Amino acid sequence: MVEEEKNKSPLQKKISRREFLKKAGMTGAGALVGGSLLGSFLYPQFQKESNEAVGKEEISFYGKHQAGITTYMQKNIYFVVLDLASTKREEVIKLFKDWTAYTEQLMQGQKVTKESSNAYLPPKDTGEALGLNPYRLTVTFGISRSFLKKLKLKDKEMALFKDFPAFSGQQLEEQYTGGDIVIQACADDEQVAFHAARNLIRVGRGVVTMKWSQSGFAAIGDRKETPRNLFGFKDGTANATKEEEFDDVIWYNHKDWLQGGTFMAVRRIRMHLETWDRTNLNEQEKTFGRYKESGAPFGKKNEFDDFKWDEKDENGDYIMPIDSHVSLANRTGVKLFRRSYSYADGINDKTGQFEAGLLFISFQKDPENFVTVQKSLGSVDKLNEYITHIGSGLFACFGGIEKGGYIGQKLFE
Ligand code: HEM
Repeated sequence: MVEEEKNKSPLQKKISRREFLKKAGMTGAGALVGGSLLGSFLYPQFQKESNEAVGKEEISFYGKHQAGITTYMQKNIYFVVLDLASTKREEVIKLFKDWTAYTEQLMQGQKVTKESSNAYLPPKDTGEALGLNPYRLTVTFGISRSFLKKLKLKDKEMALFKDFPAFSGQQLEEQYTGGDIVIQACADDEQVAFHAARNLIRVGRGVVTMKWSQSGFAAIGDRKETPRNLFGFKDGTANATKEEEFDDVIWYNHKDWLQGGTFMAVRRIRMHLETWDRTNLNEQEKTFGRYKESGAPFGKKNEFDDFKWDEKDENGDYIMPIDSHVSLANRTGVKLFRRSYSYADGINDKTGQFEAGLLFISFQKDPENFVTVQKSLGSVDKLNEYITHIGSGLFACFGGIEKGGYIGQKLFE
């Protein structure tokens, strides 16, 4: 024990002494606050060190692909869809250049730009992220087909970039559907993500207006476990994890303005939590074809075990229910890269129930891949009893930005 103590770094020693204080009878919420206050009073240095370490990690804005797509999910998202208020090309180009400069600063945890010395003007940066670290902020930009139409970029239209068909069962609401431009700001701190979106919209006043937005969260923890959605199931298990797979699944690779980019499908999906919570565990698991706690596919032990959707047991019955979500999605043989966030927006006025669900986001090199999976889920998916699609969008997210360039540059060349 003594030997063990000797081998610890000064920081580790401080932590274990703090643990000791906690164990010495100071447990429970109130005591924990008391404990940490006492801890920081006794060890002010510890408090300082840990504050500095939190959120320091920074992600590069420049690269072959935009950040925020294959970046390991952050805890928070602020997702916003904008409409064009101006269709003047030079104004839009100017805005994309401003967004480029601002985003480079934001992702470094800096103010959007240098402040003016004139105190009679509003500050350039709104200020709520002052003193906060970057928190792995990423900002990802994309445009829709309506953007190309409004700016008369006819030569940039492409056959595969077409609107989604009307999917069975969807109840899309105009207030969460469509729009010209998407900005996806993700960070391990909610205020950092919001600050980014807010400042980008602010500099765009007059050129863009806000159409719809959604904030969301994901249980990232120590980044070792697949995050769980609000039905309590691990969500994202089947996602690609390797660079080579990303090329197959995500990145658009034709020699045009979208090279190195990808298509983002977004669906705002209301989840009927009250109905789900009345459903027994067996039914819940049959809905997905995976076990709740482990995330393993039916008939297997571990989350990442391989499975075949059409494997049968000794009685000749399908092991994975054929109307389960995973069976229906998997049998298409098509891969999407899902990066969805949960949302909880208070109580629905009409039903008195939770207004909560999933801001489903998937990236794929061809929008048709999303369409194929969604059509397979169709009216058959057992999950349909518990969800309603109420918002939708399809955006082309640009390829990566080189230093000196600006987002969407290839659209205007
Ligand atoms: C609220 C709505 C949804 C919920 C709660 C949900 C939840 C899940 C869960 C728990 C899994 C199993 C673990 C995993 O591999 O991630 C899964 C798999 C999957 N989901 Fe969903 N999902 C939803 C909507 C969608 C939509 C709209 C699509 C696409 C159209 C989709 C496509 C997929 C795919 C492709 C898989 C992987 C299947 C495979 O193993 O090959 N999901 N989903």
